Amino acid sequence: MPLDRLHFQGLRNLVPLEWQPDAHVNLIFGDNGSGKTSLLEGLHILGMGRSFRTRQLKSAIGHDAAALTLFGRLAGSPPLPLGVERRRDSETLSLRMAGERLERVAELARQLPVQLINPDAFRLIEGAPAARREFLDWGVFYVEADFFDIWRRVRRSLKHRNALLRHDRIDEQSLALWSRELARWSEALDAMRSDWMARFVEVFEPTLRELVDLPELSLRYYRGWDRQRRLEEVLSDGLATDRQMKFTQQGPQRADLRLRVGRHPAAEVLSRGQQKLVVSALKLAQGRLLEAESERRCLYLIDDLAAELDDRHRRAFCRLLEQMNCQTFLTGIDPAALDGYWDPSTSVTRFHVTQGRLAHRPAAP
Ligand SMILES: Nc1ncnc2c1ncn2[C@@H]1O[C@H](COP(=O)(O)OP(=O)(O)O)[C@@H](O)[C@H]1O
Ligand SMILES: [Mg+2]
Repeated sequence: MPLDRLHFQGLRNLVPLEWQPDAHVNLIFGDNGSGKTSLLEGLHILGMGRSFRTRQLKSAIGHDAAALTLFGRLAGSPPLPLGVERRRDSETLSLRMAGERLERVAELARQLPVQLINPDAFRLIEGAPAARREFLDWGVFYVEADFFDIWRRVRRSLKHRNALLRHDRIDEQSLALWSRELARWSEALDAMRSDWMARFVEVFEPTLRELVDLPELSLRYYRGWDRQRRLEEVLSDGLATDRQMKFTQQGPQRADLRLRVGRHPAAEVLSRGQQKLVVSALKLAQGRLLEAESERRCLYLIDDLAAELDDRHRRAFCRLLEQMNCQTFLTGIDPAALDGYWDPSTSVTRFHVTQGRLAHRPAAP
């Protein structure tokens, strides 16, 4: 469901704003420093409970504001109101849905799947595996009802096992217990991740082909330990090393997505521009698979597309986005760089941001 109403207050330089976004394409123009990225940040916080710019949500609170308050309403019958608030004088984030307090960000996220493509997006390829695991788990989370529970069990057993490994005198019985727990839930997590990946690759490959010609690019899942062996065995054989290192060396906490061009790691051979296209294809494929499997659509936040892709690729990208029928927010400095890419049948609304104020902008004649 698209957001049909938004109300942001106390977000960076933005004056309190109320707006009714388009259910399909929203183009947001404005000069540098006008507040475009802040708008996308607000939407991201509303769906994910965190910013993509900072770990400290406090820094997103407007300098003169006491709190950051974001409200959005998902269209539907009945509509579903969502709210997030972070006060300057408190460390907690308060979350609300349909008037009720929520305990976990996951409950909020379930309602509003968000995908972001911004100038940092290439890091998904170049950066550490944690970002790729997050990408993978995002997909699994939305289609496997048990994923979150299993993921928490894995994290909990890993935490206990690592805490035991840090002690000089190890409690053998507890170590055996937590190793078994870890192995058991990790196998379950791996099964979900691996099934999801097989389906994801089926969607990713054609999406990539529509965007860029990279026939040798391959995407594979690495589960974090030897494919041929059970984790219980791996943990028991690796115990001496784990003790020496004082933490668990192998397991689903080491899972990764491996992108290669032929036999080379993609990060080593693709140009920055090609990396951006591959990341765009990955993120569009996420939304496509989600839509196919759960009838849910994700919200796309695309920051400064013109800086990311050249004209030809921008056109291909916008066509894919348009076909998906998701609600999208795209920003840009120059209207000409975003305006001409949409089919006349697509609903497109243009907004202009000037010094933190948002206004409707008529379509170009
Ligand atoms: N916590 C804050 N309070 C007030 N203004 C802020 C805060 N953080 C950043 N800003 C200002 O907000 C403005 C908008 O930034 P941004 O959204 O990145 O603009 P754009 O994406 O349009 O270039 C910048 O001028 C920045 O200095
Ligand atoms: Mg910006």
